[in-house]
This record gives sequence, structure tokens and C-alpha cells, in this order.
Amino acid sequence: MTATQPVLRREGVARNGHPYLIRPSKDTDAPGLAALIDAVAGEGELLAAVPGEPDTIEQSMRLVSIMLEGGLTLTLEVDGAPAGHVMVQRRAGNHYGHVGEIAILVSNAERGAGLGRILMEMAIAWAGAVGLAKLSLRVFPDNGRAITLYRSLGFEDEGLVKGEVRMPSGDRDMLLMGLALGGSGLARAPAILRNE
Ligand SMILES: CC(C)(COP(=O)(O)OP(=O)(O)OC[C@H]1O[C@@H](n2cnc3c(N)ncnc32)[C@H](O)[C@@H]1OP(=O)(O)O)[C@@H](O)C(=O)NCCC(=O)NCCS
Repeated sequence: MTATQPVLRREGVARNGHPYLIRPSKDTDAPGLAALIDAVAGEGELLAAVPGEPDTIEQSMRLVSIMLEGGLTLTLEVDGAPAGHVMVQRRAGNHYGHVGEIAILVSNAERGAGLGRILMEMAIAWAGAVGLAKLSLRVFPDNGRAITLYRSLGFEDEGLVKGEVRMPSGDRDMLLMGLALGGSGLARAPAILRNE
């Protein structure tokens, strides 16, 4: 085992007593992740998604493109099924490549058990290990639970973008948040930290 392996894999028992495994995503996760996004979208306006949208093909293509672009995609498994996901998309180009865009979700049934924090910490550790200078995210300003988590991890509010996402309730603002990591922004993660 090398020192870098724990960045991409962790298992344990969550605070709710459920055993979990966090590991690099596989293309076979796509149906489960699509169903998870659909379920979370059905809870209300937490994500820029509405129920019925994300299909398996779209989800598979998304996973593959994140991996090919040198990003991170980790799946949280509980009882052998995807129960959460975190991803970091690498921005493209010389002037943007030092920043990664992070996004997370945990199934309703597994929330509040510490798994969201673990997923975020793993992604932040990965971003630091590959030399990213910064992580950015966008969150609906009324998503208090997510914002509390992000602030507790050191993310800072960076402003509100107006009318950014078209949702059933109308065009909604998004809060931009960022975490400075201090890396130089490597062009590509070393092989041990890639999950392609
Ligand atoms: C945001 C989300 C990923 C957090 O995942 P989680 O597994 O519930 O998170 P954790 O149990 O690790 O809790 C993380 C922190 O959130 C905060 N938190 C937890 N439950 C909360 C609640 N009911 N209300 C407010 N804050 C809460 C706490 O600060 C907690 O930290 P602590 O328990 O270590 O003190 C999860 O709620 C989720 O997937 N929500 C729906 C999708 C979503 O909103 N994604 C983010 C879009 S930008």
C-alpha cells in the first residue's frame, strides 16, 4: 500500500451504523448515480436538476469525461449500491486549469451521518495532492445544510451570480464559494491519483 491510496478509497462505519465504502467511480455506477440524482432532484431545488432528467447514458458520459479530463469522481457505496458521489472537474486551459469545480450529493437516507464531510475531505485531499490551487463550487443560497458543511471546511463565500440556473420556480441565483489550496495547478494528476 502506498501513502496516496487512502485519497481514493476509504471504508468504515458511518455514525448511523451503516458500513460504507468510498472508491473511484466505475462506469457501472452510472445507473445507480442517475437514480440517485433523480431522487435528490425530487426532494426540491437542491441541485440544478429536475426529476426525470438524468439518464444513464448521460451519466456515463459525464463520468468518463471527468476522468479523461484528469478530474476526480468518487462513489459512496452503502449496502453495495451508490448512496453518494463527489466529483472534481478540472477546468481546461492555461488560465483556468489551476481550479477544480467540486460537486457532491448524498442520498437522503444516509445524510447527517458524517459521510458528506468524509467525501468532501477526500476530494479536498485529492485536490491538494494533485496540486490544484483552488476548489470552487456553486450552491443555491437557501441550501443551508450544504453551505454549513462547505464553510466548516474552509470554503469562503465569493459572491452571488444572478439568475444563473433555470429551475421550475424561475431563474435562480447561485452562491459562489471557493477554497484556496495553495497549489501551483499541475496540468494533470499523477497516475496513482487518476481514476480513469
Ligand atoms: C450537503 C450534503 C452533501 C451533506 O451530506 P451529509 O452526509 O448530510 O453531511 P454530514 O453528515 O457529513 O454533515 C456535514 C455537516 O453538515 C451540517 N449539517 C448536517 N446536518 C445538518 C442539518 N440538518 N442542518 C444543517 N446543517 C447540517 C453539519 O455542519 C455537519 O457537520 P458535522 O455533523 O460534522 O458537525 C447532503 O445533505 C446532500 O447531499 N444534500 C442534497 C444534495 C445537495 O444539496 N448537494 C449539494 C449541492 S451544492
